[in-house]
Amino acid sequence: MPYVYFQTFGCQMNVADSNDIGERLFTHGFRSSDDPAKADLIVVNTCSVREHAEQRAKTRIGEYGRLKKQEAQLWVIGCMAERLGESLKREIPEVDRVIGARSLEGIDEVISSVFPDQNVDFKGIEATDEASEFVSVIRGCDNYCTYCIVPYVRGPEASIPAAIIIDTIRKKAGRGVKEVTLLGQNVNSYCDAGIDFPDLIRAVAAVEGIKRIRFTTSHPKDCSEKLIRTIADEPKCCRHVHLPVQAGADRILSLMNRRYTAADYRDRISMIRSLLPDADITTDILVGFPSETDAEFESTLALVEEVRFTAAFMFAYSIREGTAAASMSDTVSHELKHRRLKQLIDVQTAITREIYTGMAGRKVRLMISGRQEKRDRLWMARDYGCKRALIACDEVPAGTILQADVVRTSGMTLICERTAL
Ligand code: 5AD
Ligand code: SF4
Repeated sequence: MPYVYFQTFGCQMNVADSNDIGERLFTHGFRSSDDPAKADLIVVNTCSVREHAEQRAKTRIGEYGRLKKQEAQLWVIGCMAERLGESLKREIPEVDRVIGARSLEGIDEVISSVFPDQNVDFKGIEATDEASEFVSVIRGCDNYCTYCIVPYVRGPEASIPAAIIIDTIRKKAGRGVKEVTLLGQNVNSYCDAGIDFPDLIRAVAAVEGIKRIRFTTSHPKDCSEKLIRTIADEPKCCRHVHLPVQAGADRILSLMNRRYTAADYRDRISMIRSLLPDADITTDILVGFPSETDAEFESTLALVEEVRFTAAFMFAYSIREGTAAASMSDTVSHELKHRRLKQLIDVQTAITREIYTGMAGRKVRLMISGRQEKRDRLWMARDYGCKRALIACDEVPAGTILQADVVRTSGMTLICERTAL
């Protein structure tokens, strides 16, 4: 029986791809291993979105190259594999296969050709104790934000047919999955024979056994009122909208090719707040884009102070060869970028803490995600928005939804007690 070891870098889409490939490998007779030194196949799923992500992946691939069994295979897949292609093999000679993000569909053939003699006795994927799984619904991106490598490595937008998505989710529900997160670089572009993203959400909500639906990411330029109304009307849909703003100054947003102004973004936020008053809104922000001035950075800070995101992913701009921004002059120094990033993180962290602290005494509806490793009666959970929680109670299966009181908060965690009936 061959063993496979997975290492996944990057976004949730990569996690979904790794899970998908894992399932295909299981049908080819593989078992999963948590020890790369014993595995027959090591798969490293990579990210290209920032230079740092590529450096980390390369370091790790080098380590696997040194510790793997002599006859074991080392495969590098995903976005960095797409971007660097066969040159990765020259850089790290222990790499056996490079399979780019746009060729993952063909991975079954690669598996059969490299491991032809598996005696497959596949009885189906086992029941899972994971309550929550990811499902990609639209691949690629057509937006070409000028800083971003994704459209080049993942290719043009392509919606997965709704029938396939629903079938996948039915199977997951059959294995015990209770929550799905629908994934795409821009889920609002979803379109399959007249079925748009809100229609897809309704179809997913009709799948028996699915209790909660999440999704990410929405592009602000096409986050529609129809979508927000659908979330408001559909009790299975979590109250969380991830809406990357990237910057708060119009000149920078225009140079980024985001196709909205800061005022458009504020309008979207007002629309969401009026239809979904309790929703968690989260964002991505990029600082130090070429030519960003102090005053423009201040506009980003002002927007962050005003919107009060529950949480934000914040990044220093990283040049990606081949993108339009890579040829823009007047770059912001490394030092200044990182000073701005630190300042932004400080402002946002204080807001996040205030939002969490303000939850004390509130009632929440939690879904249990699993046992907290170190403590016997302590369970990890997520509220109806995006907040993490811990709750002490007797044995509860992952996927259970329960009412709880927030007794206090600890950093970015709600400490809860089960509501007395
Ligand atoms: N440099 C830094 N951050 C980037 N992102 C995308 N491209 C870059 C880049 N070149 C960030 C954006 C995006 C998130 C997934 O990663 O904020 O929303
Ligand atoms: Fe990149 Fe922009 Fe597409 Fe997001 S929408 S993946 S930031 S190009």
